[in-house]
This record gives sequence, structure tokens and C-alpha cells, in this order.
Amino acid sequence: MAKIEGINVKNFKVLKDITLGRLWNKQQNDPLTPMTAVIGKNGVGKSTLFDAFGFLADCLKSGVEEACDARGRGGFEKIRAQGQDGPIEFQVYYREESSTRPITYELAIDLDDSSRPYVRKERLRQRRSGQRTGWPFSFLMLDGGVGVVWKGDKEGRQVVEEEGDFDLLELMKSIKAGKAEEESRETEVVELEDKRKLGIATFGSLKQHPRVSSFRRFLEGWYLSYFTPDAARSLPLAGPQKHLNIHGDNVGNVVQFMEREQPRRFQAILNRIAEKIPGVQKINTHKTPDGRLLLRFNDKGFKDPFYAQQMSDGTLKVFAYLLLLEDPSPPPFVCIEEPENGLYHKLLETLAEEFREHSTTKKGGSQIFVTTHQPYFVDALAPDEVWVLEKGEDGFSTVRRASDDTLVQNMVDEGLPLGGLWYSDYLDAR
Ligand SMILES: Nc1ncnc2c1ncn2[C@@H]1O[C@H](COP(=O)(O)OP(=O)(O)O)[C@@H](O)[C@H]1O
Ligand SMILES: [Mg+2]
Repeated sequence: MAKIEGINVKNFKVLKDITLGRLWNKQQNDPLTPMTAVIGKNGVGKSTLFDAFGFLADCLKSGVEEACDARGRGGFEKIRAQGQDGPIEFQVYYREESSTRPITYELAIDLDDSSRPYVRKERLRQRRSGQRTGWPFSFLMLDGGVGVVWKGDKEGRQVVEEEGDFDLLELMKSIKAGKAEEESRETEVVELEDKRKLGIATFGSLKQHPRVSSFRRFLEGWYLSYFTPDAARSLPLAGPQKHLNIHGDNVGNVVQFMEREQPRRFQAILNRIAEKIPGVQKINTHKTPDGRLLLRFNDKGFKDPFYAQQMSDGTLKVFAYLLLLEDPSPPPFVCIEEPENGLYHKLLETLAEEFREHSTTKKGGSQIFVTTHQPYFVDALAPDEVWVLEKGEDGFSTVRRASDDTLVQNMVDEGLPLGGLWYSDYLDAR
């Protein structure tokens, strides 16, 4: 399954310029692990990083202008790093399968002459097979909605932009005039109707662009959890649904789906979940006469079931996460803010281990990205899975991988738990 090996964020609120993991031009960095946790004090940008992923997903779904306003973001000026006048930029370095060459997606969003956000620049690049070093080949290049894309899965152009000798408009002109080297049947000069929409939204829906399509599908598949126990307590209309939604208010529908489609597998899943949630013996659904769906939990020692409305926040939450992980076609990327809220601390290590196990299964589980405040959760993690965000002198944040600190790595190698080290101030800047 696809994995993000690294990400760079520029000028997005408190994240003026941070890189996690490997990028095409930072090959010396180790890639992100299948499970990653970001820790740090209040106000260092954990929620901001979570929202950076959400913002990217929103940009694809509804265009950059709407994304700037969505989810209370308050518009471009509010989300651009204060005092900066450059564009907001993202770079995602990802691999579709562990055997395929990584692809880099770059996006820059800026204000146009009428002070409305637009897509200033969008690039997709990939090295050629056998190419180990040097500039990867771009196969989608759009500036302000105009540019060049290459169909198929082989061609592209090697562009050394940093040297400043590349002019996309020139390339477009020479392609149109039939004079460009890269001109082939796969090369297309294009113009988008709406420069506030992502090019990957348009070209990623065309069969002719398999590389673009696979990135679009990947981004569309991200699961950013906005789960709240109260949402899970709502009473949805009955009707089986395949996937858990981001708020978790269709937990009952997913249970119904699994009960219907795979009764035996579902029973096995429930048994596994019930083992992990103390006290819970059995979980099923019940349809009310008005067509609503009730989620029923049988507690040990009680004859009558309890309904989701009566269950603890923690139980509902762990149930929803475990159900998400059991999805027969799980999302490629799962991002969860502070999964610890409402959970008993002993359950946290179990949850962390479940996440890791799931993210490293052979059949390809989701990559999992969490932010956390909880040392007990971090206790279950290895130093290369943990990133520490910190605010610098200038008010912007920097990020470090816990494993880059040899002292920390050595102490963990000696058997000390990482969360304990964090608690004792070994992970924060000294
Ligand atoms: N446009 C911006 N430029 C710079 N910093 C910002 C911007 N918007 C918000 N911030 C800062 O970002 C921080 C909020 O980060 P947040 O992600 O909520 O932290 P955490 O979740 O780690 O507690 C605050 O310190 C706030 O001052
Ligand atoms: Mg926060």
C-alpha cells in the first residue's frame, strides 16, 4: 500500500518550513515509519500539522479558495505564516508500492491580483527507472493553471528549476510549435478552466494519466479523524455502510455492514475488540421501529445490553479505531489527533501496539500518523517513530526526530521507555 516517506510544509501558520522524513532532494533522511507520532508542548503546531494534511485533502476536494475558508481556517491571510509574503507550500514524497519509484507532489498557493487564493504552482515528479540521482522528471507542471502534462507512465521533463533557467511558458510555446525535444504524443499543453482547482483533480480523473490518478486516489483516500464520542452516539438511519466516516457517526452502519457481509469475520473481530476493551463481551446492532440504528454492547456481569448512548467515551473511541483498522480495504493514510483523549492510560499502550501492528502488516495496512500528549502512548513507540515539535526564537516551529538524539536512542536501547524519557524532559530542547 502507498506510504508517505516524507513531507515538507512551508508558510502554513506556525510551520514556516518543516520537513519530516525523506524528500526527493533530501535522500540522506530516513523515510517516515509506518506509524508516526508527533509530540510537543502546547502551541507548537501539532494541530496545525494535522490540519496541513486536512487542508491538502480539502484543496483537492473543493479547490484552494474554499479550503482556506473551510473548517474555521479563516482564509488565506490567517493561515499564511505571519509576516511572510511567500506562498503556502507543500511537498509530499510518497511511494505507491514499496517496489515502485517514489513520486513527489508539490503545491504552492498564493494570492492573485484580486487577493484571492489560487494555485500558483503544481508539480508531480518521478525519477526514471534506473535513475538513482539527479533531478527527477516532471510529468505535471502547472503555473497558475496553465502548463504541460505527460500522459502514460514513462515520459516527462527533467527541469532544473533552481538554476532559474526554466521557463514554463517558453516550453509550452516550443511544444506548440513542434520544436521542443520533449514533444511527443504523450505531451500535452493544457489550461485549466479554474486556477483555484488542483490540476490533479482534473487530470487525475483521466485514464490517460495513470500516475496522476494514483496520486489523486491516494490523497482522496486519506482518513483524517474528526471522531467525537458524541457523534458516535448519534442515531443514524439504519442502512449498512462500508467505511467509517471521519466523525464516526456511522459506527452503527459499519457494524451493520459487517454483520451482513461477513458475519463470521465480524464475530472474530468483535471477539478481538471485546478482548481489548475491558468489560465488553458482545457488540451488535438493533433497528428501532422508526428505522434508526442502535449500537448495543453487552457488559460482563449485566443481563441487559447497554446502548452506545450509555457507553463511556473511551470505549466508543477504541471501538471506532479498532473497527477502522479492521476495514477490509483500509485507508492508505490515517491521521488522528490526540487519540488518548478519554482513554484509560493502560489502554494506550495497547492502542499504540494495535496501530503499529496494523501499519506494518504484510498485506499492507494503513500508515498511521498521530499527535499526542501522552507519555504512556509514547512508551510503546521507538525513537524513530517520534517527532518533537518545538517553538523557535522567531515564534516558528522546528521539528526533530527523537532518534536523532544519540543519548535518547542509547537510553531506549538500554531498555528505558521513551515516554518516561519525555516525562523526564529528555526529549524537549536542552
Ligand atoms: N498564521 C500564523 N502564523 C504563525 N503562527 C501562527 C499562525 N496561526 C497560528 N499560529 C500559532 O500557532 C500556534 C497554534 O498551534 P497548534 O497547532 O494549535 O498547537 P498545538 O496543537 O501543538 O497545541 C499558536 O502558537 C499560534 O500562535
Ligand atoms: Mg492542538
